[in-house]
Amino acid sequence: MKGILLAGGAGTRLHPMTLAASKQMLPVYDKPMVYYPLSTLMLAGIRDILVISTPEDLPQFRRLLGDGGRFGVRFAYAEQKRPEGIAQAFLIGHDWIAGEACALALGDNLIHGDNLSALLRAAAARPQGATVFAYQVRDPERYGVVSFDAAGHVADIVEKPAAPQSNWAVTGLYFYDPTVSDLARTIRPSGRGELEITDLNRLYLEAGTLAVERLSRGCAWLDAGTPDSLLQAATFVQTIQSRTGMLVGCPEEVAFRMGYIDADMLRSHARQLGKTDLGRVLSELAEGGQE
Ligand code: TTP
Repeated sequence: MKGILLAGGAGTRLHPMTLAASKQMLPVYDKPMVYYPLSTLMLAGIRDILVISTPEDLPQFRRLLGDGGRFGVRFAYAEQKRPEGIAQAFLIGHDWIAGEACALALGDNLIHGDNLSALLRAAAARPQGATVFAYQVRDPERYGVVSFDAAGHVADIVEKPAAPQSNWAVTGLYFYDPTVSDLARTIRPSGRGELEITDLNRLYLEAGTLAVERLSRGCAWLDAGTPDSLLQAATFVQTIQSRTGMLVGCPEEVAFRMGYIDADMLRSHARQLGKTDLGRVLSELAEGGQE
């Protein structure tokens, strides 16, 4: 399975921070924001990743991420000329996807928690249909919202409803079967002029092949699109890391644990990170000092 990391958009809710910098490059505590969804894709076992961003910001992503060798993955890059919707990622990536199954991770979403890698690997292994993840939030009207019938089956999925039928928001992580890029071509822009990911998900729902995994309270899902949520995400990462000594959203660590890179490579990444806490934890991991 391939994966797209979508890191464009206007980032207007973070102005003036995003007037001259990409939102997904802003720090979330001790790492650039894009490291978190990248780690999620890698945890799902995905090693072919297309990074999509604006023409202005894409060179910075190339500089940060390179060809992927550092993480034992392969990166390709593509521009989104204008932010015309999340589902546009599959039109931009159509030729690169080349008829394979493909996941999509939004560059400003952080998911962390219990049993997550098993959930991710199961979603990646489904041969047919789509899998999305839902999370209970207090402000569902900001998101795509999924509602369920009495039997617990998905009843509907609606983008930013004025009167939400549930508080289950759809997170920014989606897994699709090989039909995705052709299906994405059939979507038309919404009232706000965007190719909506919710419209793509509805096509799967109508075909009876949309699976919705409800994330438990043992999981955290944060997006970092506003000053408050950016600060909350940073505090969350700091709290978990300083309390447990374990890292959140560190692609070098994921690469090592998944067997994408060996201890020598990890050691050299740790050296590069110098005296940072991140470097110290990675170095301990390379020496076998962490479970
Ligand atoms: P949003 O947060 O919906 O939009 P935005 O990033 O443009 O921010 P704002 O609302 O403050 O103007 O986007 C969610 C994620 O998807 C984010 O990582 C940006 C990305 N995105 C794109 O890369 N291209 C797009 O066309 C859209 C709509 C979003």
